[in-house]
Amino acid sequence: MNQEVAIIGIGMTKFGELWNRSFRQLFVEAGSEALEDAGIKSEEIGALFGGNMSAGQFIGQEHLASLIMDHSNMTPQPATRVEAACASGGLALRTAYMSIKSGMHDVVIAAGAEKMTDVLPSKTTGALATAADQEWEAGFGATFPGLYAMIARRHMHEFGTTEEQLASVSVKNHYNGSKNPKAQFQNEITIDDVLSSPMVADPLKLFDCSPVSDGAAALVLASAEKAKELCENPVWIAGSGQASDTLALHSRKSLTTLNATVEAGRQAYKQAGITSKDIGAAEVHDCFTIAELCAIEDLGFCEKGDGGKFTEQGETGLKGSIPVNTSGGLKTKGHPVGATGIAQAIEASLQLRGEAGDRQIDDLEYVLTHNVGGSGGTAAVHIFSR
Ligand code: COA
Repeated sequence: MNQEVAIIGIGMTKFGELWNRSFRQLFVEAGSEALEDAGIKSEEIGALFGGNMSAGQFIGQEHLASLIMDHSNMTPQPATRVEAACASGGLALRTAYMSIKSGMHDVVIAAGAEKMTDVLPSKTTGALATAADQEWEAGFGATFPGLYAMIARRHMHEFGTTEEQLASVSVKNHYNGSKNPKAQFQNEITIDDVLSSPMVADPLKLFDCSPVSDGAAALVLASAEKAKELCENPVWIAGSGQASDTLALHSRKSLTTLNATVEAGRQAYKQAGITSKDIGAAEVHDCFTIAELCAIEDLGFCEKGDGGKFTEQGETGLKGSIPVNTSGGLKTKGHPVGATGIAQAIEASLQLRGEAGDRQIDDLEYVLTHNVGGSGGTAAVHIFSR
């Protein structure tokens, strides 16, 4: 059995500081929207795969999968929580995809959610840092802004990347996010705004960082037979790749290449039978501006070390040769960590369905998504087509 798999329904909440809604409400809102978009009832769903990084620390709740099924009136169907730090959503998508590929299910939900703003910032930063190596990084006080700052400094040292070039990622993503009604921030900013924003971890400033966010996102996936029966505009999953790397940065051969990204990308391109040149738009994991530069290099959109110049020249803008993070990316759309990989697939679907509004890219054939856990210990890459 080797089924083709399609996305036939999408749903997501607005991302942001959503203090008036609970984790379960967000999850059910996104899931209901996806079911409605697919035009099917919850009884037709064979299983649910939900990405979440750290509900135990953020809201004191574990055993999430059953909780969600209970509040979605979907018992007794099976549900599985998938965790890989900030790549939890991307891996939930891949696990759901494999469950259809294997022939086990015909229609499933792949979802993700995180509620990060109900605790104090110190607790949030500490919870996120559990995705780093506890003995060698977090235990010595390293936070994620700190770890990515080291990657940025090394990129500047090796390739001459400038703080202005890092800032140009954020300016572009804020521009794109200003066209996305579901984005956490919808304001345009300038290079000067980024450069004069408060320092978080040198050289990364406030506007080089993705924010702390609440939100949920959901996809309905179906086998080819079911997709053709239920949906007029399916989005096909043409390739899926996943890879791992060391958790600790100091164990890597290079600080500026994320090997997990390179390997997951290689797998996804191979399965889709294409190269990076065939990708028309991409959602990459820009948890910090430097992460977007590493991603566009590691995925082959430009040469290693050229990401800064490439971005500064507008090549990754909406009118560039390879538009990147048309949704606003993690920087502007928001980064409720467990939901991010699913939200990236939603932007890919909107783009391929021609429903991306003012940020629509014309004549797309392939859109790529790239979701990273921690500082690169996990990466998931998916390629979608019409
Ligand atoms: N970009 C733009 N504005 C931001 C922002 C961001 N990343 N984070 C916060 N803000 C804004 C807030 O909206 C708020 O604006 P207001 O005063 O107009 O309401 C202001 O900055 C202060 O917000 P606050 O929540 O107090 O910020 P903070 O100092 O507690 O947190 C960061 C800022 C950068 C430290 C935090 O967003 C962070 O830790 N980001 C990284 C998250 C992360 O590591 N994710 C995992 C990646 S692997």
